[in-house]
Amino acid sequence: MVRHSFYLLSSVVLARCQTIVFDGRVPATAVAAEFDAADSLFDPDFTKGQSVSFSDLLLFSASDVSLLDTQVNAQSVEVTINDDSIFAPGGANPQTAVRRAELMPNPALSADNVTTTGVKTLHFSVKPSADRPLNTSHEYLVVFLERADFTGNQISLKTGTLLGSDGATKDRLVLLGNTNDGSTPIFSTAFEEGIFTNFAMVMDFNQNNIQVFQSTGSDALVQQTELLPNDLSGNGAFHFGVNKNPIDPGVDVLRTGIQEAGILEGVVYGGIFVEDSADGTVTLS
Ligand SMILES: *[C@@H]1O[C@H](CO)[C@@H](O)[C@H](O)[C@H]1NC(C)=O
Ligand SMILES: *[C@@H]1O[C@H](CO)[C@@H](O)[C@H](O)[C@H]1NC(C)=O
Repeated sequence: MVRHSFYLLSSVVLARCQTIVFDGRVPATAVAAEFDAADSLFDPDFTKGQSVSFSDLLLFSASDVSLLDTQVNAQSVEVTINDDSIFAPGGANPQTAVRRAELMPNPALSADNVTTTGVKTLHFSVKPSADRPLNTSHEYLVVFLERADFTGNQISLKTGTLLGSDGATKDRLVLLGNTNDGSTPIFSTAFEEGIFTNFAMVMDFNQNNIQVFQSTGSDALVQQTELLPNDLSGNGAFHFGVNKNPIDPGVDVLRTGIQEAGILEGVVYGGIFVEDSADGTVTLS
């Protein structure tokens, strides 16, 4: 069908007529304080501990630039968690069993569900922190799309020891499908210190399917999966950051005393943007 022909073309179409609907690439001149302001690229209020500001949690590196940051003179940003990274939704019921700090597109820059309707490609690059490593005995979400009604995640990119697993993929990035359909594995690749892993995830919010492109370092993105069915309904917001779960599956998020104290852990992000792919354009380099 003509409807899907652009997916076949996409591996040879290089930014034919790129339309970006949300650009979260951080200018090389940006400083941490800008991330606390109402006009920040990312929501200044969510998702993080109540007592900390994003300016306390973000570290920048203009000399450590990912694939799709270079052409716009952007820099990478490391998102960190510490003992204060306890999110309390609505200011109540702090999630003491979890540590969280996640950048989300500023709603003012992503209005009318622009990132979760039509056919969109989510771009980002991700790298382990060299100086603030994760504790891979734990499960971490590092990128996810959460439904607007908070009843599930349409996609989740995880690392560490996935809950209920033997830890065989603890040094990998594992992309899982909708949590309401059993979190089916979609794609997996290594998560190596010193190396950016670049992703482009084409999401057709009309047809409910996803296709993954991926590369490392400065290599152009390469198609890694076919077009795979995945329920993408429910809109919501993308999260980019560190969401550290307790090691024990099924633990109540309000339970205290089960996350070790004295932590400082981070993940480095670059090249975050959402592209309109309705006409077949998927930027690969
Ligand atoms: C955005 O998505 C939410 C959740 O699906 C929906 O309630 C809302 O009406 C949508 N807004 C627009 C402008 O389409
Ligand atoms: C890593 O997590 C495990 C499980 O919570 C904990 O026993 C261990 O002390 C942690 N290691 C470090 C270095 O914090």
